[in-house]
Amino acid sequence: MAKLWGGRFQKSAESWVDEFGASIGFDQQLVLEDIEGSVAHVTMLGAQNILPAEDVTKILAGLAQLKVKAEAGELEFLVANEDIHLNLEKMLIDLIGPVGGKLHTGRSRNDQVATDMHLFLKKRVPEVVGLIENFQKTIIAQAEDNIETIAPGYTHLQRAQPISFAHHLMVYFWQLERDKERFIESMKRIDILPLGAGAMAGTTFPIDRLKSAELLGFSQVYANSMDAVSDRDFIVEFLSNSALLMTHLSRFAEEIIIWSTDEFKFIELDDAFSTGSSIMPQKKNPDMAELIRGKAGRAFGNLVGLLTVLKGTPLTYNKDMQEDKEGMFDTMETVLGSLKIFEGMVRTMVVNKPRLHSAVHSDFSNATELADYLATKGMPFREAHEVTGKLVFTCIQQGIYLLDLPLTEMQKESALIEEDIYEVLAPEAAVRRRNSLGGTGFEQVANQIEIAKTHLK
Ligand code: ARG
Repeated sequence: MAKLWGGRFQKSAESWVDEFGASIGFDQQLVLEDIEGSVAHVTMLGAQNILPAEDVTKILAGLAQLKVKAEAGELEFLVANEDIHLNLEKMLIDLIGPVGGKLHTGRSRNDQVATDMHLFLKKRVPEVVGLIENFQKTIIAQAEDNIETIAPGYTHLQRAQPISFAHHLMVYFWQLERDKERFIESMKRIDILPLGAGAMAGTTFPIDRLKSAELLGFSQVYANSMDAVSDRDFIVEFLSNSALLMTHLSRFAEEIIIWSTDEFKFIELDDAFSTGSSIMPQKKNPDMAELIRGKAGRAFGNLVGLLTVLKGTPLTYNKDMQEDKEGMFDTMETVLGSLKIFEGMVRTMVVNKPRLHSAVHSDFSNATELADYLATKGMPFREAHEVTGKLVFTCIQQGIYLLDLPLTEMQKESALIEEDIYEVLAPEAAVRRRNSLGGTGFEQVANQIEIAKTHLK
């Protein structure tokens, strides 16, 4: 089939070579963006009298028809036409005749493809932000239900100090809040239009780039035509923000997986978000959480992939850049899917409050309370740490916990310990008293949740 750029060629590539170079297999996802960009471009060409009004009208009518077909999934893309840009241009010419060939006046596929990518992210990053926010609301709802649910807090995955379970859940709210901010801030750089840069040097036609920007809803245009067609930093940024988001989701997923084991039993996932085993009838697996944890890998891969594609390319456009798309599409799908699933999983999970309560009453996570108690009574903290450590050891030897230790036993290590120690050692009290700003005290957690709500729309 004749190529739209075939004039200077004496022979055509074989189909398997075409196939290797073609991007239509994946860039057809940009069909609506490509049409949108073309509509703006040709409208601008008309407004600038670069094309006569009647041509513009015909082209716009043709593009409108293609759009209807695209939305209905009726366009048939051909590998022989290489990519989404040439496929659509060819279809337009087939539809309205040679006048369709005027659409590409003052434009190159180089500024066109960069425009499509900007349009793609401009539309979908707000969707990501919306899903993050939705998930944040769900986290808040679970947290509000668990402000006074005492749970073991961990460092090194060893019991550390008792906490409010809501405090733990809210960590993920704040991580997501920063992720959300990063996506929102990145919109500023997505909101720069490359269109009008031409192949790389601008164009001799009296185009109006600001008009195109206005038509497409961009607040800025790239100031340098070579920069406009050669960088993909706005995509790297999206991939990077997504990789970090997936890191956060993956850590949360890991905790969900641990919490739903028989060993922990802190939560139970809803059947709708779990799967069974084909051989072991008793199994209820946290597959969705595992899958999200696993999918973080592809998000990282896509980021590193694009950075690597870009790092050695001289200015300006190089075909290498065609490799920017699949990773972006894949990460977008991964992020949107993971956020949706995670929200449902957390909304429907049941927190096993009795189990958390008993867990925190059968460990040494109140040991810091004893040390702090002694320090408050004037003992140097280092010494208090030592005394407490000895009492913990005594308990371990007897198979009991600090609250079970008789006062007389405690007093053998320090006369400063009095009857009131038992109140101090109660996990509820330990949590309640951690009332420092941002601490796990109930009052602080309730306060934190109120602050969190002000970050939501
Ligand atoms: N399919 C190409 C891409 O995705 C479009 C730009 C092609 N430009 C060119 N001069 N070959 O990068």
